[in-house]
Amino acid sequence: MGQARNPDDLLPSGVVSEEGDVPSPGKATRNRKSRIGCMSTRRPYVGGNWKMHGELAAAVELTENLVAAIGNTVIEVDIAIFPPFPYLQAVGHALGHAAILLGGQDCAAHLEGAHTGQTSPAMIADLGGKVALVGHSERRHELGESDAVVAAKARAALAAELQPVICVGETLAQREAGNALQVVEKQVRAALEGLSAPQVGRVVVAYEPVWAIGTGMTATPDDAQSAHAMIRTLLGELYDAQLAGSVRIIYGGSVKAANAAELFAAPDVDGGLIGGASLKVEDFSSICRAASSS
Ligand code: 13P
Repeated sequence: MGQARNPDDLLPSGVVSEEGDVPSPGKATRNRKSRIGCMSTRRPYVGGNWKMHGELAAAVELTENLVAAIGNTVIEVDIAIFPPFPYLQAVGHALGHAAILLGGQDCAAHLEGAHTGQTSPAMIADLGGKVALVGHSERRHELGESDAVVAAKARAALAAELQPVICVGETLAQREAGNALQVVEKQVRAALEGLSAPQVGRVVVAYEPVWAIGTGMTATPDDAQSAHAMIRTLLGELYDAQLAGSVRIIYGGSVKAANAAELFAAPDVDGGLIGGASLKVEDFSSICRAASSS
């Protein structure tokens, strides 16, 4: 463990900095199974999506406890937390200079304007946010967000210098019909529509199969790996192998302290997007530690 990193120093893309850590053997083997022959090393990424849980005092307490547990120690991993919007500023204060990124659970597709009830990526950035989730399945399904809306949100996030974490994933019916990979491929293609290679270099992709979210039914490491490898191969086709090898692709859906290590050991799984377990300091800390040793 070395010096704590300031969130401002965290790289927007997944590539470890020149002066950064020497790649571990585990990280160096991450590209083995995707068809991308790139030697770049990806920095693990773990996000905690708090969804619509908690209240102000609990959000601040959770943040303070996270800072104490992992804020200055798990420095080999990019860690982000996504509190509900009304608590963003208070959570940002509680984070202080800890090496934990602050993020919004969504952002508008516009930087400002007459969009009642929405929160612009610029506002998230104004409160110290560095990241925004876009395309979470709960928004796609509860609010009918289309692929085109998700793409517009990713573009808006980038325009406000936020890192978009683009969420994709198939439903159980789509998986059972044998269409999981086609569905995910279509979502990724649509979300990246019109983005330049440097922009995609700042993106994180979260593969979250809908049937695994909040159900306790986690994808097997093999299932996660095959979706992640497909996404990385697609990035290679749409852009180039070097870029594809540098983009973090993280898994979400019933990740727990008990199953994180085996999921993160899959070569193209670069970390996780955590729902329920991110509300418990010990569980989330242990998942972040699992990512650091993956
Ligand atoms: P759970 O970890 O509760 O399954 O939620 C995953 C998720 O939706 C993260 O965005």
